[in-house]
Amino acid sequence: MIIKAIKNRCSVRSYKPEKIREEELQEILEAARMAPSGSNIRKTRIFVIQKEETLKEIAKVVALATKAGHADGISKERAAAIDPETHNFFYHAPTLLIMTSPEDSYNAYVDAACVIENAMLQAAELNIGTCWVNNVRRTQKDEGVRAFLRNIGVRDDEIVIGCVAVGYPAGEMKPKEQTEGHEVIRV
Ligand SMILES: Cc1cc2nc3c(=O)[nH]c(=O)nc-3n(C[C@H](O)[C@H](O)[C@H](O)COP(=O)(O)O)c2cc1C
Repeated sequence: MIIKAIKNRCSVRSYKPEKIREEELQEILEAARMAPSGSNIRKTRIFVIQKEETLKEIAKVVALATKAGHADGISKERAAAIDPETHNFFYHAPTLLIMTSPEDSYNAYVDAACVIENAMLQAAELNIGTCWVNNVRRTQKDEGVRAFLRNIGVRDDEIVIGCVAVGYPAGEMKPKEQTEGHEVIRV
């Protein structure tokens, strides 16, 4: 039942070092790719990073960009406190998905958000942890981050909408009781 996966999903911020199995990754990606899109344009792309050196590299370039004050929405004080040698915005997850959309797409954000949520729910169904991470999106205008993105195949006419850390949780998955907010107004 889909409601079980929805209730099991929570943000996981500590991961076991081993990667999820290839079949599990394929199921997550299949679910992600089944997401709807406005006018069915299906232009969100999902970049899958699993190589250790590439994971280290992205953690470093994003942390450096943040430290340099190039992260949208991060205060100077928070940025200054970051140590780029040790800070990992992706919680050392052994798999990272980066979702992009064409910059000129009217539905760039909402289309990619559907893809992201589908991926996270399928992961929850498999008891695999995920966390949506905003920091590539925040820093994507930084030269070092853009160079990294270009290098993995992100085109200059694409924007990063979000990324998802994926892996086996190091501890128990503890979904929050979500009772407040996301208000329903029946009229
Ligand atoms: C658009 C969006 C951006 C988010 N960015 C981050 C992030 O950069 N880092 C992080 O640790 N969590 C991030 N989160 C996770 C939220 O903090 C989390 O979903 C929220 O606190 C509710 O907790 P839950 O996911 O366990 O239900 C993000 C979630 C969303 C939807």
